[in-house]
Formats: sequence, C-alpha cells, structure tokens
Amino acid sequence: MSETVLVTGGAGYIGSHTALALIAAGHKVVVIDNFVNSKPDALVEVSEMTGHEIVIVEGDARDPKLVEHVLVDNDVNAVIHMAALKAVGESVEMPLEYYGNNLETAISTLGAMRNAGVWRFVFSSSATVYGDPESNPIPEGAGIGATNPYGMTKEMIEVIVRDLAASDDRWKITALRYFNPVGAHESGRISEAPVGKPNNLMPMIMEVATGKRDKVMVFGDDWPTPDGTGVRDYIHIMDLVEGHVAAVEHLENQSGYDVFNLGQGKGVSVLELIRAVEQATGKTIPYEVTTRRTGDIAECVADPTKANEVLGWRTTRSIDQASTDAWNSQQS
Ligand code: UD1
Repeated sequence: MSETVLVTGGAGYIGSHTALALIAAGHKVVVIDNFVNSKPDALVEVSEMTGHEIVIVEGDARDPKLVEHVLVDNDVNAVIHMAALKAVGESVEMPLEYYGNNLETAISTLGAMRNAGVWRFVFSSSATVYGDPESNPIPEGAGIGATNPYGMTKEMIEVIVRDLAASDDRWKITALRYFNPVGAHESGRISEAPVGKPNNLMPMIMEVATGKRDKVMVFGDDWPTPDGTGVRDYIHIMDLVEGHVAAVEHLENQSGYDVFNLGQGKGVSVLELIRAVEQATGKTIPYEVTTRRTGDIAECVADPTKANEVLGWRTTRSIDQASTDAWNSQQS
C-alpha cells in the first residue's frame, strides 16, 4: 500500500536518502526542515532523479500548529522523525540547546500527530544509547546508558514514545537504533556533506582522499581490538534507509512500541575502513595515530537479528561498495 510519509529533518544526509528509498518503494514524501544544518538541494536532486515531487516545507517541527497543518493538508499516514541536533561534542558544551531542541521537537511532533489523528511514528535513534556496551554484537535487550547529552536525548525520547504507545493503543511506534551510516546512493548524485570540519570517520577520510586535508588522525591504536584501532559497525546508507522503508511498512502489523538495531552485524576497524577507501579510490590515505578521543569506546557492533526476522530486512552492501559510492558522490 502506498503511504504518505512526513520526514521531519528530512533534508539531511539520512533524510534525503530516505526520501529516495521511500519513493523507490512507491510511497509519497513530505519533508519539514528548518535547514539549520542542511539545504533543500539534495531533495530537489531526489525529485529530479525519481521524477516524483517531494513536498518541502521550510519550518520548525517545534511548531505544533505548522506540523498539524502539514499532516492534514497532505493526508500523511506515517511520520519518520529525524529532526534533531546531532554533534556529540557540541552537545556536551550546549546541553540546554540539545535537550531543548531534541526533546521539544519530538514532543511537539507527537502532539501534532495526535491532534491530526496520525498514529504511526518511526524515530531515528542511535546505537549511542548503548553507551560502552558490555559485549558485542549488541542485541536490543542489552543495557542502555548514553554517555553524552546528544545520546541522552535519544534515550529519553525512546522512553517517551514507549510510554506514549502504552497510553493509547492507536499508537504504533518504532525506534531505529542506527549504527554508523556511510556511503551514498550509487548514482553519486546525493552525498554526505557535513558543514565545517567533519566529526565522523568516513567524511574525514573523504576529505583526505579529495586533498582537502593532509591526513586522517586516528584516535588511538591501543584499544583492546584486533589492530588496536576502534571497531564500529559501518552500514551502507542505502541499507540503512531501506530499513526505514521496512519499518514504515511493518507498522501496520505492529502493536504498540518496538525497537530495532540497524547495522550489518560486522565490526570494521579504523584502519580497515581506511584500507577499503584506498582500494576503492586507488589513492593512498595518509594517517597519523594520535591520542584517544574523549568519550570514545573500543567497539560497537550490532546484532541485527531482530530486524532481519521481524522487519524482513537485511543489509546487502559491503563497506567496499560504500567506499566506492562515497567516493563517487564526492566526484560529482
Ligand atoms: C559518533 C558519535 C555517536 C553518533 C555517531 C554517528 C562520538 C563519541 N560518538 O560515533 O554518538 O551516534 O557518531 O554519527 O562522537 N575516528 C578517528 N579519526 C577521526 C574520526 C573518527 O580515528 O577523525 C575513529 C573513532 O575513534 C571511532 C571511529 O573512527 O573509533 C568512528 O568514529 P565516528 O565516525 O566519529 O563515529 P562514532 O564514534 O562511532
């Protein structure tokens, strides 16, 4: 069945790829975004690529009347809530802004949905809610404990939507815990384009590959991992966004609240990712080992079994593919 899906904060890296995947699966897309960390360009590109219009509303999801109008005017059936501030370091420096923005945006969107009679909600959560996990791979039932304000907002919103779903059985709510999304659509026409200095590893490697920076600083080679560098579960962005489509389509048959990991289930070290990009680009990526970054952990890898079984979703793309696609998206 074709759904009309509102994606809050949908103009960013994950949102624009999600719009593409939703349209490819036959759904309609409406986006509300305040463009503080993005531009409408990627969505315009997605419209051109697919030949389908995306309704783009510039505005703040903290404005419940605006969101209610957008829901009603477009006959929206489901909401994917991505609107949030997302820089971990900044969240430590500006906790009020992070708690204020991220919690208010979620609560306001949910209130607008209730007023409009829209009950299906998919929340962009993060593996960051696991904090420093006791063991890997991590199943959804593992202990929770975010270690910074950004992660705490994800954890708190998970609690809010769980309680909301328990309060009224019309709600159907899914939280998706993302591991580390990388890469781009195979066309290379939309990409991850962080504003300012990248925080995350893949965009940093790309800036070295394109010559914008001299080398990658590797944050420690004394971690308890096979090569001493940090291990993460890098998931191709197209696999991640296909997980969103599966989650939206599954909501109809779901009751109440549920939570899923979106990851490959495979650990990759910093040096392995650098080598994958070297293979994909034919370029040498210089790096220098430096001290550990505050707040980092050794390893964070998903157990994606639940999403595989319940959502009928699985990843199909490798980190080599993600490296090739990330590189192509930098070229175009
Ligand atoms: C970070 C956030 C996490 C967020 C996720 C996705 C922190 C502490 N965590 O996770 O909350 O959900 O991004 O956006 O910021 N690395 C380097 N050099 C670099 C950059 C990274 O060696 O220049 C290493 C890191 O130490 C880590 C790995 O690369 O081992 C991945 O780092 P990153 O891409 O920042 O993601 P996470 O730390 O997993």
